[in-house]
Amino acid sequence: MPSIKLVNVTKSYGNVTAIKNLSLNVDDGEYVCVLGPTGSGKTTLLKLIAGIIKPDKGEIYIDNKLVNNVSPQERNVAYVPQYYALFPHLRVIDNVAFGPLSRGVRREDAYEISMKTLEMMRLSWRADSFPHELSGGMQQRLALARGLASGAKILLLDEPLGALDARLRVELRFKLKDMAERNKLTVIHVTHDQEEAMSLADKLVILRNGEIIQEGSPSHIYNEPASIFVAHFVGGANFFEGFVAEKDEYGSWIQLRNGPLLRVNDATRPVGEKVVVMVREEKTEILKMVKRVEGINLLTGRIEDIRFLGNFISYSILLDNGDKIVSRTPTIASIGRFKIGERVYVRLNAEDLKIFSYPSHGLYKELEVI
Ligand SMILES: Nc1ncnc2c1ncn2[C@@H]1O[C@H](COP(=O)(O)OP(=O)(O)OP(=O)(O)O)[C@@H](O)[C@H]1O
Ligand SMILES: [Mg+2]
Repeated sequence: MPSIKLVNVTKSYGNVTAIKNLSLNVDDGEYVCVLGPTGSGKTTLLKLIAGIIKPDKGEIYIDNKLVNNVSPQERNVAYVPQYYALFPHLRVIDNVAFGPLSRGVRREDAYEISMKTLEMMRLSWRADSFPHELSGGMQQRLALARGLASGAKILLLDEPLGALDARLRVELRFKLKDMAERNKLTVIHVTHDQEEAMSLADKLVILRNGEIIQEGSPSHIYNEPASIFVAHFVGGANFFEGFVAEKDEYGSWIQLRNGPLLRVNDATRPVGEKVVVMVREEKTEILKMVKRVEGINLLTGRIEDIRFLGNFISYSILLDNGDKIVSRTPTIASIGRFKIGERVYVRLNAEDLKIFSYPSHGLYKELEVI
């Protein structure tokens, strides 16, 4: 069964530790997306599993077999590198057929599989071209076709859709997932496109500085980010500094800078603790000031900027306490309703607010490291 297991794996390049004591389990047939900022160790992680580089410490298992000393060819994994290594002297179709042929598949069958895979990648019409005659996005699709046609049950994909335009990227995203399911492949797909990761992954792994800082289903990570970093990196979020002013058995009141109080459904922090309050951009409601609105978790401010994003409109609001908040609203619900400079209420729901410990090096430092 094509499962992957890493146990306490460390890999350094000189004095840079690219992967730090990392442990990861990928089940048979699982589609795992690894998401992390540039330099976080994503490519290094795939190269370790592919066997292109060796760990300094730790063990790597494929199908429960220790593979630390097994060559890349014998690991039965298809690795599609970030910078696709195509065979320049082979035609497109021969690049794809190379894998199945070298596994001993009959010539006729190898070419049939290859042509089908090229069709899926919308490249069959370029089967007779050479790689250098293809555009960057076509070369990327060819690299992907080669990986898919190889017959390996484990696919390691490094930013496989990064060079494609937005529409094709979304189309191929789902073809890839479908193909993985139909052929019972185990996939590790590295990306820094959070939407791609969220929509594909059975399990999402968030990597930072060579360490896994959270893993779980996309919805769990989105709704229950374990840290400010994760909340900021996966999905748009607003953060406010404050401290616990009061608490009872159901929740607490957090006092923000210059006075406003927010009610949160979290009673785990002691009164006086400095905290950060997080709210997702789409969990904010902007209300007109034409009539007086009352209630808790109601902030006041002025719209500073309005950005049209297609399906959504993003409003930047400078709150009266000096904090800023970004509110993302479906276009259909708010187009033309608000103007730059308009004073508004922003309503938040206690259940949508999450609190984190205040980072030791400051909130702004924590947000800027991405
Ligand atoms: N061959 C190498 N020699 C020296 N340092 C390296 C080498 N390869 C990677 N590194 C370093 O290891 C760290 C992790 O690199 P890696 O390529 O794994 O990151 P990544 O998450 O894939 O980044 P990106 O999103 O930019 O592709 C970086 O600090 C990088 O500079
Ligand atoms: Mg990389």
